Amino acid sequence: MLLSENQKKAVKSIYNAGPAALPAEVLRQIKAAIPDAEERFESVLEIGHRTPAFEDILRPLEQNIRELYALPEDFSITFLQGGSHTIFGMVPIGTRHLKDPQFVISGRWGVRAAADAERVRPIERVADTSEKRFPEYPDLGAGQFRKDAAYTYFVTNETVQGLQIHEPTWKSWGQTNLVADMSSDLLSYPVDFSPFQMAFACAQKNLGIAGVTVAITRDSFVENMEDKGLPEMFSLKKLAAAKSCYNTAPVFAVFVSRLVSDWVRSEFGSLAAVKKESEAKAKAIYDVVDSFPETFQACVKNKAQRSNINAVFRMRDQQTEKEFIELCRKQGMIGLRGHRSMGGVRVSMYNATRLAQVKVLASFMRDYAEKQS
Ligand SMILES: Cc1ncc(COP(=O)(O)O)c(C=O)c1O
Repeated sequence: MLLSENQKKAVKSIYNAGPAALPAEVLRQIKAAIPDAEERFESVLEIGHRTPAFEDILRPLEQNIRELYALPEDFSITFLQGGSHTIFGMVPIGTRHLKDPQFVISGRWGVRAAADAERVRPIERVADTSEKRFPEYPDLGAGQFRKDAAYTYFVTNETVQGLQIHEPTWKSWGQTNLVADMSSDLLSYPVDFSPFQMAFACAQKNLGIAGVTVAITRDSFVENMEDKGLPEMFSLKKLAAAKSCYNTAPVFAVFVSRLVSDWVRSEFGSLAAVKKESEAKAKAIYDVVDSFPETFQACVKNKAQRSNINAVFRMRDQQTEKEFIELCRKQGMIGLRGHRSMGGVRVSMYNATRLAQVKVLASFMRDYAEKQS
């Protein structure tokens, strides 16, 4: 067996930042889709990507996302490989013939995307809070943006810092050329796509497993991309035109995304309902953090910018954090270590991690803090 006995121990909840927890129902469906060696049937691990069986997986997945977001007609959804990192390069390279894109850099993932973009073209940094180590989202007004930029790039939820912004912030910029990395908060609240040209996300947090990336694009934005001289796999325009099947699609990863998207619809019904639960989960954790400042210190001080998905906090010192994370692990609550560049404790609460589970962690944190005082 590939997993150690230790890893096979029963867990109550998985707080991994990504790849992250899957809904229990989806795990059951995955298991049912894989045949025993003795009892053969043509499984999803073995079908071609140009078959009706795959079409029946892919198109309803697309439709689920379209309906959950109520996407405007002129938007398309493309499933790609290469993770969000591939999109970091694809978008700037496809828009080299347009005026410099403008970047709002508010955390590690904005830094990475800007660095990749700069490898292929000049960009403008409207704001970059790296030097201060991203304490809060930059305060920006419409006057700081250009209307003629190829696009305005930002990250809705900085997974490492635990910093998240919402619609009123990006709408206040007055831009209609937004391109957002939504890797860690996809499908966790409704979005009005009218000011967007594109949003994208890797699947391994809120839409399945690693291996597939979703690009939600306005058709005119992609059709206007320039791909002369580019190998075809680097052209978002080509991949979007081929409707997610330019080359061999990651069939199994797409299958899992389909199951997760079905689950979101049947379990929550709407993204407004997902948002409600997401806010309640975050509140459960931050309430404890704020009640015991001697024990826990939230990394993001501005409450309006605290992520509903990744709550990041520190404790007295690294040793205390390590001990606390180990105590949680013994209780079956795993994956709480902060990102290696940030340290601290990170509670990642994607859709598959439910409010009831988070309440157990919150109450454990409360007991722990009470014993300290
Ligand atoms: C906000 C954000 N963007 C991009 C990425 C990178 O995704 P990938 O590893 O799929 O390229 C991550 C991964 O953690 C992320 O959280």
